[in-house]
Amino acid sequence: MILNIKNLHINYEVKNGYVSAVQDVNISLSENETLGLVGESGCGKSTLGKSLLKILPKNAKILGEISFKGQNIAQYNEKEMRKIRGKHISMIFQDPMTSLNPIMKVKDLFLETIKAHYPEIPEDEALEMSGKILSDVGIDPIRMNEYSFQFSGGMRQRVMIALSLVLKPEIVIADEPTTSLDVIVQAQIMEVLKKLKDEHKMSMVLITHDLGVVAELADRIGVMYAGHLVELSTAEKIYYEPKHPYTQALLKSIPNTNIDDRELRYIPGDLPNLVKPPKGCRFASRCPYAKEICHEKVPPDFEVDETRVKCWLYEKVKA
Ligand SMILES: Nc1ncnc2c1ncn2[C@@H]1O[C@H](COP(=O)(O)OP(=O)(O)OP(=O)(O)O)[C@@H](O)[C@H]1O
Ligand SMILES: [Mg+2]
Repeated sequence: MILNIKNLHINYEVKNGYVSAVQDVNISLSENETLGLVGESGCGKSTLGKSLLKILPKNAKILGEISFKGQNIAQYNEKEMRKIRGKHISMIFQDPMTSLNPIMKVKDLFLETIKAHYPEIPEDEALEMSGKILSDVGIDPIRMNEYSFQFSGGMRQRVMIALSLVLKPEIVIADEPTTSLDVIVQAQIMEVLKKLKDEHKMSMVLITHDLGVVAELADRIGVMYAGHLVELSTAEKIYYEPKHPYTQALLKSIPNTNIDDRELRYIPGDLPNLVKPPKGCRFASRCPYAKEICHEKVPPDFEVDETRVKCWLYEKVKA
C-alpha cells in the first residue's frame, strides 16, 4: 500500500464558521492502482486531492492521517512537502492555461521542475528527459522552444501531463484532466495517461464528475457526496451493482450517448449547506429511501459483498 488515508477531515474556515468539505474519509491506494473519485460539483474531490500535496488554501485545516509509504505527510511542513511534490506525488490540474506559466518557454518549465529536485542533473540531460516525456505524450520535442500559450488546449494538457510525470512520481493525482477539452481530445488524453501510468507503474487518483470515464479507467472507485465517502468498491461493482442511493442516482444521470435523447437526468434537490451540515446522512434530504435514522445519525460504513457503503439501508445485511 503506497497511500493510506485515515479519519481525514478537512475544514475551510469562513466568516460564519467552517465548511466541512471532507469528513472522516478512510481510503487507501495500492501500487499501480488507479483509484477514481467521483461525485457532483462541490462534494470535496479537489479538496481531498489537494490535501495529498498540501496545496490547499490557507483557510483549510487538515485533521487525520495521510500516510505515504508509512510517513504521515499530514504532519509535514512546507519544506518537507516541497521534497515530495513533483518527485513523489504530482498533480495534473483541470485548467493548464492557468497552471502553466505562459511567459516561460516549455523547456524552461521542464528545467525548473527538474532542477528543483535534481540540481545535479546537467542541462543537456534534463532537456533529453524532457524531450523523451514530451514525445511520450505525443508532442514533438522541438516544440519545447515555444511558449505554452502557443499551444492548443489539448496540447497544453499534454504538456501538463508530461511535466507532472517527468520525475516519475509514484503517485499522480489527475483532477478533471480533460474537462475543458472536446470529446475526441478527451479520449486521446485519457489514452495517453493510461499508457504512461502503466509504463511507469504509477498509482493514480483520477478525479472526475464523469462516472463513464472512471468506469473505464479505474480499478476502484470512491463516490463522494457532500464531503463523505459514501461508497467504495471495484469499478465494475460501482457500475453494475451500485449500492448507495446516491451512486444509483449518479449512474442514472450519465447521458446515454446511444440514443438521440441526450438529456441529462439531474438528481432533484441541492447539496446541503456544508457550514451547517445535516446531523445524519448528508444525502438524506434527496434520498428516495430515507428513513428516520438517516436524518438523525451519520451512517457508519457497512461492508456488503466487497463494497463499502455508508448507508443505513444496509444495516441489516451486516447483522
Ligand atoms: N477556499 C475555500 N474556502 C471555503 N470553502 C471552500 C474553499 N474551497 C472549496 N470550498 C468548499 O469546499 C467544498 C468542496 O469543494 P471542492 O472544490 O473540493 O469540490 P469538488 O468536488 O472538487 O467540486 P468540482 O467538481 O466543482 O471541482 C465546497 O462546498 C466548496 O464551496
Ligand atoms: Mg474540483
